[in-house]
Amino acid sequence: MHEVSKVYPNGTEALKALDLTIYPGEHVVILGHNGSGKSTLFRCLTGFENITSGFLEIDGKNPSQLKKRKERSAFRRNIGLVFQHYHLTQNLSVLQNVLFGALGRQSFRKVCAPIASLALRNEAMEALERVGMESVAGNGADELSGGQKQRVAIARMIMQRPRMIMADEPIASLDPKAGKEIMDLLVSICKENQLTFISILHQTDIALQYGERIIGLNQGEVQLDKPVPFIQRSELHELYMSSQEQKEERLEGVVGYGI
Ligand SMILES: Nc1ncnc2c1ncn2[C@@H]1O[C@H](COP(=O)(O)OP(=O)(O)OP(=O)(O)O)[C@@H](O)[C@H]1O
Ligand SMILES: [Mg+2]
Repeated sequence: MHEVSKVYPNGTEALKALDLTIYPGEHVVILGHNGSGKSTLFRCLTGFENITSGFLEIDGKNPSQLKKRKERSAFRRNIGLVFQHYHLTQNLSVLQNVLFGALGRQSFRKVCAPIASLALRNEAMEALERVGMESVAGNGADELSGGQKQRVAIARMIMQRPRMIMADEPIASLDPKAGKEIMDLLVSICKENQLTFISILHQTDIALQYGERIIGLNQGEVQLDKPVPFIQRSELHELYMSSQEQKEERLEGVVGYGI
């Protein structure tokens, strides 16, 4: 993307002339304090929000220029989305929720559990096995814990056969243990299938552990963009300071030098 900006109708400038290139197969973590523009970037990348200006291309396509519904859904089919909230259909079975992942390539009728083909049902069971949830395939989605729900949401995403995975705070509602298990799962699925992985996180330790590259946003601009081995803790600390604190720290520095 080149000089990508996003201004909301109320005048909020959420992204300011962003220049970013993310390469196939990279594992990128996006960090930044509340309101820094992470989810806006996520929505622009996934075509849920149009950019205001600049050049954006993902997998050879500009999501903002996909006007027809069919084109947009074909574009989104390639991106596996994971959210903080799992968006499962609560009153249906786990298996049915996973089958819904095939909706982009099958009609609604063909993904309904009682009439879905054996091949599709087997594929859904394999996806559930991959995330360790095959034993609860027949249970209601509402009977699961948060960590289990996220696993089922990931199995549903596997059914989509995505080319890349984008996750907006995938572990924000989970305890540290379940959160790490989910990150382990997502990273290993991406490695097995050579998928690009972009995740938005708030936990800097997890970002350093699971990311290969960290992009830090601050007020809609890139403040930090480095491979993880080159990142200093102080850079992450600075990223999470409010802009007011940053101004005060710079001022203290100036005073400290006696200028
Ligand atoms: N639909 C919208 N309409 C107007 N302004 C919005 C909209 N969505 C987000 N914003 C504003 O854009 C800026 C960036 O918001 P965004 O949700 O992208 O931040 P974020 O980094 O994801 O924050 P958080 O960590 O809290 O999720 C904020 O100032 C926010 O108030
Ligand atoms: Mg957000």
